[in-house]
Amino acid sequence: MQFSAPLKSDAIKIMLLGSGELGKEVAIEAQRLGLEVIAVDRYPNAPAHQVAHEAHVINMQDKAQVLDLIRRVRPDYILPEIEAISIDALFEAEKEGFTVIPNAEAVNKTMNRKNIRRFAAEELGLKTSAYRFVSTLEELEKAAEELGFPCVIKPVMSSSGHGQSIAHSATDIQKSWEIAKEARGDASELIVEEFVRFDYEITLLTARTENETVFCEPIGHEQKDGDYIFSWQPMPMSPTALQKAKEIAKAVTDGLGGRGIFGVELFVKGDEVYFSEVSPRPHDTGMVTLITQSQSEFALHLRAVLGLPLGFAFFTPGASAAFKATQESVTPHVDVDPQAFGPDTFVRIFGKPESHKGRRMAVLLTMAASEKEALQKAKERISLLRDTPQTTEKSVPENPSEQDDRAKTPPQKSFFQRIFGA
Ligand SMILES: Nc1ncnc2c1ncn2[C@@H]1O[C@H](COP(=O)(O)OP(=O)(O)O)[C@@H](O)[C@H]1O
Ligand SMILES: [Mg+2]
Repeated sequence: MQFSAPLKSDAIKIMLLGSGELGKEVAIEAQRLGLEVIAVDRYPNAPAHQVAHEAHVINMQDKAQVLDLIRRVRPDYILPEIEAISIDALFEAEKEGFTVIPNAEAVNKTMNRKNIRRFAAEELGLKTSAYRFVSTLEELEKAAEELGFPCVIKPVMSSSGHGQSIAHSATDIQKSWEIAKEARGDASELIVEEFVRFDYEITLLTARTENETVFCEPIGHEQKDGDYIFSWQPMPMSPTALQKAKEIAKAVTDGLGGRGIFGVELFVKGDEVYFSEVSPRPHDTGMVTLITQSQSEFALHLRAVLGLPLGFAFFTPGASAAFKATQESVTPHVDVDPQAFGPDTFVRIFGKPESHKGRRMAVLLTMAASEKEALQKAKERISLLRDTPQTTEKSVPENPSEQDDRAKTPPQKSFFQRIFGA
């Protein structure tokens, strides 16, 4: 493969639609290969914006804005990093000859729980929790009765736990209905799932090109309020369960097609493996691969995108701990005790321009002789990260021009004002 230089007429351009912490790592890997990186998000100074050649701020749900930018930039590869993107724009771009990773239909299927669940369970015949789709409170009540309690209720378009709840009995249904309706995205339809009493859950990172498919070691993770807080690799599994997990991941990723890495989420109970959902992009629980593998999930993603060989080595057991903000701030800080910077630990600060309660701001990665030890260490060391109490800005200003706190410092006095007084 011939590489060129960024900003030249023959530069290889990758466009990131979504510029969060995962996109930032993809951008850094692309920079290492001399690719030109165009980072796009809905707010300025997003993490990947800061390591890109070009940064754009658009409404990514707006078909015209997305298409217009694609047509102007003419990227070689379009990498969706989040789910909230105009799917019509991606279909149209693909029709015009642009390459969407892994492909527009895969993005379409995976952004909607109904599409991916039907595809996995009904078309591919994979084992999943029992489920129903509902649009009214009455349908929800009926579906919950049929599936039994507890059951899990989620808007078909949602992520990171938004709008999700567990109903333990019929009396919870009304509340679950309201939680789902308040959520972002298209809450017009809900999925009701049988609650799987799994022993553990994993992400099986699966990278594929037309030529090969590779699996990373399974990643175990712990979720809280619909978001991951700890992940570790490798998750010990019985040979039977691991084999089934790989078969499911292969079936789903082959079914979706295209090139790139996929985060296949699975529930494991004994030797039984349930397909849960899949992201056609790097997965947040996979940040641990930044410390455990010769090629992280981000490097593998990019290799797959470029159609390069996907070989990598697993170096060491490791774990990750997410650091979440405890307060709102437009001048966010992460106060890291120097003890966190051990020889076996990485601290990655995402550089997000604002913090909100619960927003992921950093991650701590650590390695050890076993995944158990690594997880223990990650749990201990994450307490060495804190957001310093803010005394000034309490809330996030409405006016975007105020979001750059540097713009708020009073204009510097001129030389004459300083010497002779104002
Ligand atoms: N049917 C289920 N049974 C048991 N736990 C579930 C079920 N569905 C979701 N969960 C738990 O909730 C977490 C988030 O659900 P998921 O469907 O992955 O939503 P998201 O798209 O927000 O990641 C899962 O990782 C799992 O821990
Ligand atoms: Mg999930």
